[in-house]
Amino acid sequence: MFDTDGDDADVQRRIEELRKQIRHHDVLYYVEARPVISDRQYDAMLRELQDLEAAHPSLVTSDSPTQRVGGAPIKTFVTVKHARPMLSLANTYTADEVRDFDRRVRDGLEGSAAAYVCELKYDGVAMSLTYRGGQLVLAATRGDGEQGDDVTQNVRTIRSVPLRVDADHEFEVRGEVYMLQADFEALNRDMEAAGEKPYANPRNLTAGSLKLKDPAEVAKRTMQFTAYYIDERTNAAATTHAQGLDRLHALGFPTSSAATVCSTIHDVMSFVDAWEAKRHDLPYAIDGIVIKVNDLRQQQELGFVARSPRWAIAYKYEALKAQTVLQDITLQVGRTGVVTPVAELAPTLLAGSTISRATLHNEDFVHELGLHIGDTVIIEKGGDVIPKVSAVVATMRPHGAEPWSMPHVCPCDHRSQLHRPEGEANWYCDDSSCPWQVRRRLQHFASRDAMDIDGLGERAVDQFVEAGLLRDVADIYALPQRADNVLALERWAPKSFERLVAGIEQSKQQPYSRVLFALGIRFVGEGVAKILARAFPTIDALTAATAEQLTAVSDIGDRIAECVIDWCSDVHNRALIERLQAAGLHMSAPAAAPSSQAFAGRTFVFTGELTTMTRRDAEELVESMGGKASGSVSAKTSYVVAGAAAGSKLAKAQSLGVPVLTEEEFRALVAEATA
Ligand code: IVH
Repeated sequence: MFDTDGDDADVQRRIEELRKQIRHHDVLYYVEARPVISDRQYDAMLRELQDLEAAHPSLVTSDSPTQRVGGAPIKTFVTVKHARPMLSLANTYTADEVRDFDRRVRDGLEGSAAAYVCELKYDGVAMSLTYRGGQLVLAATRGDGEQGDDVTQNVRTIRSVPLRVDADHEFEVRGEVYMLQADFEALNRDMEAAGEKPYANPRNLTAGSLKLKDPAEVAKRTMQFTAYYIDERTNAAATTHAQGLDRLHALGFPTSSAATVCSTIHDVMSFVDAWEAKRHDLPYAIDGIVIKVNDLRQQQELGFVARSPRWAIAYKYEALKAQTVLQDITLQVGRTGVVTPVAELAPTLLAGSTISRATLHNEDFVHELGLHIGDTVIIEKGGDVIPKVSAVVATMRPHGAEPWSMPHVCPCDHRSQLHRPEGEANWYCDDSSCPWQVRRRLQHFASRDAMDIDGLGERAVDQFVEAGLLRDVADIYALPQRADNVLALERWAPKSFERLVAGIEQSKQQPYSRVLFALGIRFVGEGVAKILARAFPTIDALTAATAEQLTAVSDIGDRIAECVIDWCSDVHNRALIERLQAAGLHMSAPAAAPSSQAFAGRTFVFTGELTTMTRRDAEELVESMGGKASGSVSAKTSYVVAGAAAGSKLAKAQSLGVPVLTEEEFRALVAEATA
């Protein structure tokens, strides 16, 4: 070990040497996946560097391997414009569609053949990295494709992203930030233990982690990076995409070793087929294969349509399947009293996680599948990672197995009668004091999309209900005064209590529409809550509204109106509202600036993949301008806005003669109307 008191020139030299060594071993570890020293030897070098830098703070540089986590928490993420738009890919699902793509490519190249590069389609978050003078100067998310968020501080914590490279000119690298399945599961377990809601899949957890404000927290979430594109204007030696990947690798970026040049579309399909099975053995999730024209000149010749390149396409794999045994069907009671049958399955591994339960939606779903207890069933996982029971293997039914029938009493201690309203698929428990409903209502109220109360996860709710600290959602606002009771519970310490109190306090800032959603009124989802908040800008106006007034609002039908009136006329709920109001929650909408009514009377349908905004944002934009957004095309539709890979809705619009706009044209229309 080097003496920290050595003279400055020696110290400087030793520091440089250690940094060089550490970078070299980082590349061997993260890029080549063949470390040549032990973790212990690596840690010793890092420790020596840390000690030297601590003793000589003037010698610390931002690209030192010790400086991955630095700086104060980020206040807000700054928006940055991409040098070139970040595009998305059109999807294909069958060999025929891939052959169509090849045909379009050859037509576009006036008959010339194209070679392709096949790559794994990592299921993560797209990232753009800019290097200048050999240093990482910017990491930006894709955002709307034109501009994204500057998340440099957070991306610096990803060990496989080089902070320093051996190239002085400016260049941009694009790739995917993702998470290993094992890291995802471990983080989710920690989050659950801390009373937080676990994430549905590694992609969501990655996206959530990149948006954390404290880089020190981000550093605790182990993420990976893989590079799949390089843009070097001044040093453009590459003439093919494959050479670009080699160049990335040589610069020290992790690239996928799976990438393969295929000279025919037949070879492309062999690659796709080979990975169909092999992908389950990967330690991370891929959701398909990306197929790219290899020759960069050909890429340029082909160009783009809307926001997708003509020279690349994604092939998406089918849902994953597994076979298991249905051991039982239990009932689950939701916050609005909906009673859902749940399949209790013999635990089985499906795409890296163990599945032991799956929703069966409702009574009819169970009967349509013809489920008997003891049946062997097929379970499937789609892109959303929520498992579902898709079929029964009838030949494997055990002798004497009985078909399942829906119980007519609630599974909770109250054993209330259930009922199924005429024309509905759901059974309901109408006992609003049903202990299961109480818990679900509280959990919903505190959840991320509702009041988003930090520190009040599902486990904490269960604990507080059991301890008699929570009976309804207004009790939450009395928790800060009950420190003694909370701290007496298992797993609660002053620090976690403090966080809960801050979370509760912060939730008081949630807007009125969120409060309406959080109340958990049947059929009042996020969208309906917003509509109601706009039409009835105070809680008093809403509770006083008649069925006629409610249904006069566009998109509010009889069913919603009836549930709102039922809920509001309940004396307990009225008292609840008063207590929430007294606690300081927003019970009215802020006086809005008069919004433009430029789109009044016009109906828009959005279809295909939009790139500069989400479909939801586009719909809200239309609504904020007095227009209506609809999901289906009819002769009454004013415009269909078609993004990439638009399908049947676009065809229908064309057949009905409904005007079709591109995303750009839509934005121009908005700009014109708001000018
Ligand atoms: S190429 C124009 N290559 O998939 C080319 N994308 O919709 C655009 N992705 O936003 C990207 N693995 O986040 C490319 N090997 C790969 C990829 C990949 C994952 C993601 C990326 C992109 C989305 C495409």
